[in-house]
Amino acid sequence: MGSHEDKKHWYDGKLYNYFIDPATEETRRIISSLIEDNSNVIDIGCGTGSLALFLSKKCNNVLGLELSKKMVSYANSIKQERKIINVHFLHGTAENVSQLTNERFDYAIFSLSLHEMKSETRIKALEEIKKIANSIIIYDYLVKKNTSFKGVLNSTIEFLAGKDHFENYKSFQKENGIFGLLEKNGFMVEKIIIDKDTYAAVKAKLK
Ligand SMILES: C[S@@+](CC[C@H](N)C(=O)[O-])C[C@H]1O[C@@H](n2cnc3c(N)ncnc32)[C@H](O)[C@@H]1O
Repeated sequence: MGSHEDKKHWYDGKLYNYFIDPATEETRRIISSLIEDNSNVIDIGCGTGSLALFLSKKCNNVLGLELSKKMVSYANSIKQERKIINVHFLHGTAENVSQLTNERFDYAIFSLSLHEMKSETRIKALEEIKKIANSIIIYDYLVKKNTSFKGVLNSTIEFLAGKDHFENYKSFQKENGIFGLLEKNGFMVEKIIIDKDTYAAVKAKLK
């Protein structure tokens, strides 16, 4: 998939900002707690830019990369409204990020974005991260049994996001989620924070 492509969801932009962003305040707080002051970070699959803009207070520079043009344009409008100058948003794909920027980052963050990528895209995205960042922070679903209450609840939420999205979520779970992906791509886990028994924030480095 090239950087010219656009990913559209029915909830992109304002809807995501009104309904999802308020529910992920704790996510932003947890991710921020894993990052040292004055770091340079890239937020991959940054959505409405809520995390990137939140991190602008403690980071030197933040780059938000996002595949949905509508999300990028929404994120830019909020950035301008708040007059934030150390955050930039870029339209493009995670799997060719090293060709989209010459910068090097202390952290590459994937907040709730990996589970919605295809299995091969996730792997390519992590390969790209090795070229541009020193460490990685992934915040995403914990793997749950399909028969557990949380498993059914999470599956229902992901089902509502659309057919492809749901298929990718299922493959993410099948491949052992965050930990399977990090292991397969040669990363060593440094810190884990479990959130609401549903999500984990994991900080990792190359082995
Ligand atoms: C569930 S949203 C998460 C948004 C935000 N990071 C958050 O924590 O709320 C996942 C985002 O990842 C983006 N995305 C999916 N695949 C991508 C890819 N290959 N490259 C860049 N962004 C991608 C989607 O367009 C979507 O906005």
